[in-house]
Amino acid sequence: MNNISVVGAQWGDEGKGKVVDLLTGFADVVVRFSGGANAGHTLVVAGQQVIVHLLPSGVIHREKTCVLGDGMVIDLSGLLEEMPQLEPLNLRPTPESLKISARAHLVLPYHRELDRLRESGRRAIGTTLRGIGPAYEDRAARRGCRVCDLLHPDRLRERLRCALEVANLRIQALGGQTMAFDPLEATLVAQAEQLRPFIVDTSLYLQRAMRANKRMLFEGAQGILLDIDHGTYPYVTSSTTLAGGACGGAGVGPHALGDVIGVTKAYVTRVGEGPFPSEAPEPEAEALRKAGHEFGATTGRPRRCGWLDLPALRYAARVAGMRYLALTKLDVLANFDRPTVCVAYQLDGQRIDSLPPDAEDLAKVEPVLQEVEGFGGDLRGVSDFQGLPAGARDFVAMIERETDLEVCLLSVGPQRDQTILRRAFR
Ligand code: IMP
Repeated sequence: MNNISVVGAQWGDEGKGKVVDLLTGFADVVVRFSGGANAGHTLVVAGQQVIVHLLPSGVIHREKTCVLGDGMVIDLSGLLEEMPQLEPLNLRPTPESLKISARAHLVLPYHRELDRLRESGRRAIGTTLRGIGPAYEDRAARRGCRVCDLLHPDRLRERLRCALEVANLRIQALGGQTMAFDPLEATLVAQAEQLRPFIVDTSLYLQRAMRANKRMLFEGAQGILLDIDHGTYPYVTSSTTLAGGACGGAGVGPHALGDVIGVTKAYVTRVGEGPFPSEAPEPEAEALRKAGHEFGATTGRPRRCGWLDLPALRYAARVAGMRYLALTKLDVLANFDRPTVCVAYQLDGQRIDSLPPDAEDLAKVEPVLQEVEGFGGDLRGVSDFQGLPAGARDFVAMIERETDLEVCLLSVGPQRDQTILRRAFR
């Protein structure tokens, strides 16, 4: 069994989409296990750009099966918009190629409204406004509506009625517009009809697939530093982003995860609020943003930009149990004469080399920055490691030394073939 788990090693937007797309070549089934439409994967197929939010990046491989796992929160309207977008590429999912977990929870319009209302208040954290937090809250409060409810209109009616009652009270308290039950139910019933053939017990499907020697790729969403427990709480998403989250979020045992690959950019970005020790001041941040086209795939927001943060990367590697790193956007860093790296933090006069548990402490740390040798030039045509400038190879060696991980893949441009694969995952 050679399964692979791919997770973001930073605050999301590390380029997981491209890495998963490449590694899907070595897998039969691609499984998402957490989050929802807050994710945004920009994929490039035959020169055409496709952005998916709910579907796994593996969807652009016709012969692979994609799974939306138990731990996800699924917005049916978004999913039904996303599926036809793949039609012109002849990649529209079928019930054979896409399995939706009956156990996953639904993101409903009132979740999005609650997200919006909260984010317009004093305690905003800069969410994606996709209703993710409120949907996970309903899950934890045991009043959520699940995909399996779509198969039983009477059960759906009952659950929706209870959940909407609570949601409307909260909406009212926040000064928003309450929602009517009937149109909501009618929309869900119509959506259920369209999606019924795709709904299965995905954990059972995965067990059977593994018994038939099919190889799995577990595709993480967001990044480790946005994990509900291990991220920069409270500036985090509401689900697990760890590789281990795939056990609960896909209904598989820990042995199924295989090798864990963390994806990291050669620098760091973050969208939304929260501490970011290696954030670069303007105009440096603007230069990174421009060179790396750092605008959110889901929200279009300009991303905050800064230098590679080794303490944060070491921490992410630890809590996610990474074995390998995929290093993306190395070509972007090549635009800088003296790239900078954060090698440690200073907190209250002490040097530390890991993330403190409290985001308020993290907000106080001073980054210890070190300039490294530039590796200018256009890396986009380089197809093997030895062909990289010495400075770029040194940069990779430093990351390997500092994290104790092997950099197995380097991305030097947005296209599939602008990649240096140093290890074959067979
Ligand atoms: P939520 O997941 O929409 O509740 O947002 C919570 C935090 O996670 C915010 O700071 C978002 O910007 C961030 N976030 C959520 N999903 C992603 C993602 O896919 N990439 C980057 N940041 C994300």
